[in-house]
Amino acid sequence: MGRLVIRQLLAGRDIGRGNPVAAQMQNFAYLIGDAERRRCVLVDPAWAVDDILDLVEAEGYTLDGVLATHYHPDHVGGHMFGFDVEGVARIMERSPCKVHTHRREAEGLRQVTGLDASDLVLHDSGDRVKVGDIDITLLHTPGHTPGSLCFKVGRALVAGDTLFLQGCGRVDLPGGDPDEMYYSLTQRLASLPGDTILYPGHAYSGASADMDTVRRTNPYLQVPDLETWRRFMR
Ligand SMILES: [Fe+2]
Repeated sequence: MGRLVIRQLLAGRDIGRGNPVAAQMQNFAYLIGDAERRRCVLVDPAWAVDDILDLVEAEGYTLDGVLATHYHPDHVGGHMFGFDVEGVARIMERSPCKVHTHRREAEGLRQVTGLDASDLVLHDSGDRVKVGDIDITLLHTPGHTPGSLCFKVGRALVAGDTLFLQGCGRVDLPGGDPDEMYYSLTQRLASLPGDTILYPGHAYSGASADMDTVRRTNPYLQVPDLETWRRFMR
């Protein structure tokens, strides 16, 4: 059995140091690896891809793929707020591999990154991606975008912009859907054990916490019904 490693990399601090836009956006990229087999995947590699790939190489990992939580440029690269954000297109130049995404996210992902359809592997909820001997389960959690994914591996949930420690992703951007976000938070992620460690896509309100704590303290997880939620999110 492999040994699971999760490395959380904060843009502007751990990678892309000195980039003020990265520092302001507070994105997390993740390396998920099998430390014995020295295989890894990257979640949302953006902002400073060479820093991330240098780390992969320095630690002796072989990169087997990229997992995209969703297609926003601060997570996968592209053009945003007048800035060019480095991302998966740079991965393809230096260390080509497949990019795993939900099938409903594929078109948006290709538009913002310029990737070819052949670069992508399209998934449905419940699919698994293997890294070394470790299984990563893909959970479809729409709301922030139509094809947002969370990644369950071991006791961890890498949640992208679906869930933060003290909030959830915006639902007022194109493709956002408040009702779907409600179902993602209250149904699709409801069965996760309380000792699951949440690793969010931004450091807005902390870097990680167990789901027991998040359920107790995150006001977005304490809304009693959909009607209240709709008023809350308006
Ligand atoms: Fe986003």
